[in-house]
Amino acid sequence: MIRFEEISHHYPGQEHELLLDTISLTIERGECVGLTGPSGCGKSTLAHIGAGHIRPTGGRVLIEGRDLTAQPSRKVFLIHQEHDLFPWQRVEKQIQFAMTTPDAGRIKELLRLVRLTGYETFFPNQLSGGMKKRLALARALAVNPDLLILDESFSSLDSQLKTELHEDLRRIWRETGTTILMITHDSRELANLAHREIRLTAERPTRIRKGALV
Ligand SMILES: Nc1ncnc2c1ncn2[C@@H]1O[C@H](COP(=O)(O)OP(=O)(O)OP(=O)(O)O)[C@@H](O)[C@H]1O
Ligand SMILES: [Mg+2]
Repeated sequence: MIRFEEISHHYPGQEHELLLDTISLTIERGECVGLTGPSGCGKSTLAHIGAGHIRPTGGRVLIEGRDLTAQPSRKVFLIHQEHDLFPWQRVEKQIQFAMTTPDAGRIKELLRLVRLTGYETFFPNQLSGGMKKRLALARALAVNPDLLILDESFSSLDSQLKTELHEDLRRIWRETGTTILMITHDSRELANLAHREIRLTAERPTRIRKGALV
């Protein structure tokens, strides 16, 4: 279970106005939760707080009851829109690099999971946009994260590719049970994917929809 507990945040020089104002949310193990809200409302900031990249002005991030506030941890993996692949590393190496101990069997399994079997020796610039996203997913899954945060990870893609990746993500979720926080501008992206959607506004987050994961 991941718990954002009464998180407040403002960036330096913006003390007059809290960007995040005592936000609390809990994500159960194995859940896929959507986080939406208008541009600039603090979604990416919350993602960075979750991943331990930013210390919030107030509040705590608890992972399985442990206080991991501002502790960058392999246990929360954040994939941005720009997926931070290493241009000089081949597909297989990118995944291996993420692992604490290299495991050829697991690499093979991850490649299958993201449909990149046969591309082991390719460099990122030899992959299509969708394949790069799938490689980023494999690399994230290689660390067995307690929480995988996708921050607008697919938003630069055309709608057909997006749909394809959502299918992949749904299958990956079903097969691995990874806990996922999916940040997006567009609630429609969460259809058939997220258990529930949390909408971040200037106010506290409100849960506006709860449905079953297909
Ligand atoms: N490093 C920073 N220093 C100062 N201000 C920042 C920093 N990062 C973000 N901000 C400000 O905080 C606010 C929220 O930014 P954030 O990126 O969290 O929003 P967002 O909800 O992810 O927006 P979008 O939907 O456009 O991605 C913005 O006003 C932004 O300018
Ligand atoms: Mg953002």
